[in-house]
Amino acid sequence: TAGAHVPALVIGTGYGGSVAALRLARAGVDVHMIEMGMAWDSAGPDGKVFANTTAPDYRSFWLRTRTKQPISNFLGFPLDKDVPRYTGILDAEDFGGILIYQGRGVGGGSLVNGGMAVTPRRENFGEILPSVDAGEMYEVYYPRANAGLGVSHVDPEWWEATDCYQYARVGRKHAQRSGFPFVFVPNVYDWDYMEREAAGTVPESALAGEVLYGNNHGKKSLQQTYLAEASATGRVAISPLHRVTSVAPRDAGGYTVGMEQLDTTGGTIGSKTVTADRVFFAAGSAGTSTLLTRLKATGMLPRLSSEIGKGWGDNGNVMCGRANHLWDPTGKLQSAMPTAGIDNWADGGAFAEVAPLPTGIETYASFYLSITRNPHRAEFTWNAGAGRVDLDWRTAWKQPSIDAAKTIFDRINAKEGTIYRTDLFGSYKIWGDHLTYHPLGGAVLNKATDNHGRLHGYPGLYVVDGSLIPGNASVNPFVTITALAERNVERIIAADL
Ligand code: FDA
Repeated sequence: TAGAHVPALVIGTGYGGSVAALRLARAGVDVHMIEMGMAWDSAGPDGKVFANTTAPDYRSFWLRTRTKQPISNFLGFPLDKDVPRYTGILDAEDFGGILIYQGRGVGGGSLVNGGMAVTPRRENFGEILPSVDAGEMYEVYYPRANAGLGVSHVDPEWWEATDCYQYARVGRKHAQRSGFPFVFVPNVYDWDYMEREAAGTVPESALAGEVLYGNNHGKKSLQQTYLAEASATGRVAISPLHRVTSVAPRDAGGYTVGMEQLDTTGGTIGSKTVTADRVFFAAGSAGTSTLLTRLKATGMLPRLSSEIGKGWGDNGNVMCGRANHLWDPTGKLQSAMPTAGIDNWADGGAFAEVAPLPTGIETYASFYLSITRNPHRAEFTWNAGAGRVDLDWRTAWKQPSIDAAKTIFDRINAKEGTIYRTDLFGSYKIWGDHLTYHPLGGAVLNKATDNHGRLHGYPGLYVVDGSLIPGNASVNPFVTITALAERNVERIIAADL
């Protein structure tokens, strides 16, 4: 379709992109979404669309020949294995100082994430997005996002009794015995479906340990929510396995967008250009930041703000495990969907998700993904010699996150007489400090853009994804990314179209 023209082009199909597509389409605008990953709408040779977390295969990783599992070791054994290079669903993108995990495919991060749908506490909102009116967010846009995403709570009575949340009940007991608030958090998983999984009447997904490489059932990813609604308007087209490589202004107005079509080994099988009146950057924090940094530095979009690429953070992510006593088993059946966290944000700057470790065997381990207040911010810069964008994050910058997480787990260990696991991220390594699941920032709201995501210098270019959030959300970020996109796109439609 060389030479085709679209009113609105959206780069990426994650949370920000899906909100933009739905709202533009509802306003009568035709939208073309470009997605570098696959559609994930057809089954593989085993009859399933997605691979299980316990048995990664060619579908699991984005263009790697060996898996890069977040938990790399177990009881002295390395877990990674060779896989065929394929446009798989989870990208562990290596920026030197940090691995940024991201979903690849139609639905973005919603395909691979834990579905934890957390609205931050209102008293923390001022430090998350200081230029945004909190009243509006909590009265209008957070409720709209939660409704659109299909967020709901687990039935507490069922949770108290089911085998698959024993690990979470152990997490609660240990949190409360040390005096920490244990808070239930909603999720986008279909709880009725999970109860039927537990009853043995439907095919298992969360209870079979599915999460990181996709859920074959149960989870309401964006394909089931925003993107389904967008497609129902008849105004939204999606091109999977197309990667946007350039955006440049046209003399006649609007923009020329260049893209490569990929095959499933990552090879380029063609290039295309389309023209668009408006372009919405929704490639995720790493995707949007690297694209804009390169386009500014190489002269395609030279008037972009000098704030482009700055203010990137890892949401303070750090992982750890604790070894429980033999009388505190966490259960061999563990639902892969987390339901709760330990909230020590106010006192210690840490919110710890009580995470599953769905191995299918009893591990006596409690596992946590902590979100912490980490002051470090990294910058994306163009490396002309290497022809790529670098990020200057350093692994040592995780120390404030480790210190914050220790405010919870040192106390719990002291109270319980337990120790940290040292086998999950290597040998004798306590902290999973090499990665993030929650990249945020790089095109920060009210700095690289105006207060509604309009890029400075280029009317008709917008950022709508996690790059707008300056590095920390105090909780898991996708509800905030969705709510902010709802707010910004509503304004853009009203004022610019
Ligand atoms: P997102 O990353 O979702 O989408 C960007 C899309 O753009 C991707 O599909 C990508 O392939 C595409 N793209 C990139 N560059 C492109 C290009 N040049 N051309 C075309 N397409 C391009 N959050 C939470 O709130 N609760 C949770 O439980 C979890 N759990 C979790 C687990 C794991 C394993 C991960 C990796 C992440 C989470 N998250 C999470 C984080 C959450 O998934 C993440 O914050 C959001 O998906 C980010 O949404 P965005 O809209 O910013 O981009």
